[in-house]
Amino acid sequence: MSMDYRNNHKILINEDALNKRVEEIAQEINKKYEGQTLIVVGVLKGSFMFMSDLLKKITVDTEVYFLKASSYGSGTESSGVVKITKDIDTDIEGRNVLLVEDIIDSGFTMKEVLAMLGERKPAMLELCSCLSKPERRVCEVKIDYLGFEIPDKFVIGYGLDYAEKYRNLPYVGYIEQ
Ligand code: IMP
Ligand code: MG
Repeated sequence: MSMDYRNNHKILINEDALNKRVEEIAQEINKKYEGQTLIVVGVLKGSFMFMSDLLKKITVDTEVYFLKASSYGSGTESSGVVKITKDIDTDIEGRNVLLVEDIIDSGFTMKEVLAMLGERKPAMLELCSCLSKPERRVCEVKIDYLGFEIPDKFVIGYGLDYAEKYRNLPYVGYIEQ
C-alpha cells in the first residue's frame, strides 16, 4: 500500500513563482556570459529539475556536466562529512564554470565542492542555487545567483527528496510535522 502522495504536504513555492524566478536568473546569466561558453555543472541528484528549467532559458553556449556529492544519509540531517562520489569528466582550467545546486543548507557540501573545483583553476567559478536556508548555515558560502531564501523547513519537490521520494513534484513543498 502506498501513502497518499499528494496530500501529506503543503506548497511553499508554486510553479509560476519558480518559472518567473528561473527566467530572471537566466537573464542575468545570459547578460554576464554573452559571447562566452559556460560550463554548467549540476550537483546530482537534487539540481536536475531546476537545472533543466534554467538551461532551457540560457542562450549562451553551454556544456553540461554533473557531479555527485553526498553529506546526507536517507534522513533529513547533514552528516557534515562530504564525499564527492562522482566527478565531472572534463578539464575546467581557464573555463567559466557555473555550479548548479538545489539548496544550500549548512553549506558543508558547497564549501567542499567549490574548494575542489577552485583548485582546478577555472577562469570563473560561480554558484547558482534554487533555494537557501540561511538560518541553518554553518559554513559561509557565496551564492552568486539564488532563487529563493526559505525558512528552516525540510522541503521536497522540484528535484528535492525525502528518502528519495517526491523529486518529481513540479513545485517546492514541505511535509507538515
Ligand atoms: P548542506 O551541505 O547542509 O548545505 O546540504 C546540502 C544538501 O542537502 C542539498 O544539496 C540537498 O541535497 C540536501 N538538503 C538540504 N536541505 C534539504 C531539504 O530541506 N530538503 C531536501 N534536501 C535537502
Ligand atoms: Mg544536493
